[in-house]
Amino acid sequence: MTLSNLAVRDVETVIHPYTNLATLRESGPLVLERGKGVFVYDTAGKPYIEGMAGLWCTALGHGNEELVEAAAAQMRKLPFAHLFNAKSHDPAIELAERLKEMAPVPTSKVFFCNSGSEANDTQVKLVWYMNNALGRPKKKKIISRLKGYHGVTIASASLTGLPVNQRDFDLPIAGILQTGCPHHYRFAQEGESEEDFATRLAAELEAMIVREGPDTVAAFIAEPVMGAGGVIVPPKTYFAKIAQVCRKHDVYMIDDEVICGFGRLGTAFGCQALGFVPDGVSLAKALTSGYVPMAAVMVSEPMYQALLDESRKIGSFGHGFTYSGHPVAAAVAVKTLEIYARDRLFEAVAQKAPRFQARLKALGQHPLVGEARGTGLIGAIELVADTATKRSFDPKAGVGPRAVRFAEEEGLIVRFLPGDSISVCPPLIIAPAEIDALFDRLGRALDRTLDWVQREQVRKS
Ligand SMILES: Cc1ncc(COP(=O)(O)O)c(C=O)c1O
Repeated sequence: MTLSNLAVRDVETVIHPYTNLATLRESGPLVLERGKGVFVYDTAGKPYIEGMAGLWCTALGHGNEELVEAAAAQMRKLPFAHLFNAKSHDPAIELAERLKEMAPVPTSKVFFCNSGSEANDTQVKLVWYMNNALGRPKKKKIISRLKGYHGVTIASASLTGLPVNQRDFDLPIAGILQTGCPHHYRFAQEGESEEDFATRLAAELEAMIVREGPDTVAAFIAEPVMGAGGVIVPPKTYFAKIAQVCRKHDVYMIDDEVICGFGRLGTAFGCQALGFVPDGVSLAKALTSGYVPMAAVMVSEPMYQALLDESRKIGSFGHGFTYSGHPVAAAVAVKTLEIYARDRLFEAVAQKAPRFQARLKALGQHPLVGEARGTGLIGAIELVADTATKRSFDPKAGVGPRAVRFAEEEGLIVRFLPGDSISVCPPLIIAPAEIDALFDRLGRALDRTLDWVQREQVRKS
């Protein structure tokens, strides 16, 4: 395969996240040049439906001039200012006020950061700090879930329940525990109903807390719908049962809304769609529609009181990033939230979701698909070698990556996730006809993958 000049320059200079760096040397990257609405265009001018909203983030699609204007205006006025040493600026104050107003849980204050990983690292540090302030220095362990995704910094990657993020990185750090994943298709016992499965997972969580000692377990962290772990929608009553266990043992419940926040499930926040009330919330991605990096941690009143106590004792709250509450990012976030409200985007998602889910679930009939799952405007199909036994393909056969490549040839960007799942998570502004085009292309890609599987006899165990 001959690589373009840009591709050659890329391979010689750039380390790509989540990429097989060895095969990249042969295949080269897909180099994108511009975007408009739900479409992106490569350097040859070929259009693709951005079926993943970038990395689950460009809710308003590409080319939103209002966001461009908000950034440019702020850059002209005050391109940088920080929040250290009692300094502040208008965009950060306004954004914090708006987030407090719309938060799904009573929120006292907002702490700004620049990525989902930083937000979740901050959550861990704040929980530790709070428990020191409260005089319970042993209560420090954090429980996350198998297949959960919370980022890649040292604490966040330790929370993330995917082997690829820990193997040979010498992770996880001490004090992080992992409980079960609420994926009924893969982890339910023979004949176990969704309800019984949820009950068992909550009982397993409680058993873990009791075994470790509730006075040593500080927090539990979860995404409402797991994203990078394979788009896993939990059973209906799962979170209510889990939240009850957390409350009983005074375990701080952290809701990682980095993907689900801002309308993805047809409600402002994922916890509202799934019916639970956490203690703290992490936000990122659609907060700025992905146009500039920005993340936030919603801090509860009891936690804030603990931070105040520590400040009095130590003399300063010793945490923060140079770009915490960056004025350009904050101005773009304020504008993004304004657009969501003005255009009633979350309600629009709820209206479009049935069509999206119907098209997604129809792919569940395809001979390569073991399960088609999702809710709102997010979903995944899990490819299997045998739909009757749920037998997976040998990862070395590369069936998922092959399907993703066929989708790209069909003009669609989707993502391959561990466990041969292919995810879709388009911009929230996607039009009904574009939803149809997305699934038409995905269906054709699956047909081509099936042809290839049969030709290469990949199905043999
Ligand atoms: C649920 C969730 N949490 C945290 C993160 C980490 O965010 P970032 O890549 O901005 O560090 C992600 C990224 O995809 C995510 O999906």
